[in-house]
Amino acid sequence: MSNKNISIAIDGPSGAGKSTIAKILANKLSFEYIDTGAMYRALTLKTLNLGLDPSMKKDVLQAMKNTIIDFNDNHIYLDGQNVDVDIRENIISKNVSYIAKIKEVREKMVDIQKQLADKKSVVMDGRDIGTVVLPKADYKFFITASIDERSSRRYKELVLKGEKNVSFEQVKSEMIARDELDSNRVNSPLKKTEDSYILDNTNKTIDECVDEIISIVEGV
Ligand code: DC
Repeated sequence: MSNKNISIAIDGPSGAGKSTIAKILANKLSFEYIDTGAMYRALTLKTLNLGLDPSMKKDVLQAMKNTIIDFNDNHIYLDGQNVDVDIRENIISKNVSYIAKIKEVREKMVDIQKQLADKKSVVMDGRDIGTVVLPKADYKFFITASIDERSSRRYKELVLKGEKNVSFEQVKSEMIARDELDSNRVNSPLKKTEDSYILDNTNKTIDECVDEIISIVEGV
């Protein structure tokens, strides 16, 4: 590969395995991994921690004032504090879509994301990477899986974390609701671009997906 910074955009719905795949890929290619969903999650956490309502735009904009979201060594920091674990709580997943649809929030996050990609070769995952953040990305992938498979993965994750009072059906209906919000919102909805390579991993392992992407990126 040449010396210029390379960018790989990965988009797709929740639970498709994007972040797992992107992380391994970034590691193998020695690129920086940027989890953009984590940034929207961090702002959701801040809003809730302040006792504000994530479904109210004015509350979210108030919470966003003086908020610093940053990455270091693949860890996410909210106002200087590592929040890797806190942003994965179910309460964050339930509320993050409200925040992600606010135009002013997206503008701020996209700005930070573009700056990060200017500095280094990146693997960036999210919903609007190929469409808005890095429309000129060197490679674009749209990673997906069936709704049952994605819900089942998320359900198992929550059970493993010791989350009580969740059922598969509940996780599935929350995921359908989130897909709906992410795909139909006015600002930067989740969309495949014409130049995206579609990778459905319903019946594939993570390693198979990573290998497939690497073979495309390396042209083998
Ligand atoms: O990928 P995730 O589940 O951590 O994303 C959390 C939420 O943030 C999800 O509802 C979609 C939204 N999101 C977004 O709107 N744009 C992005 N680039 C990344 C995530």
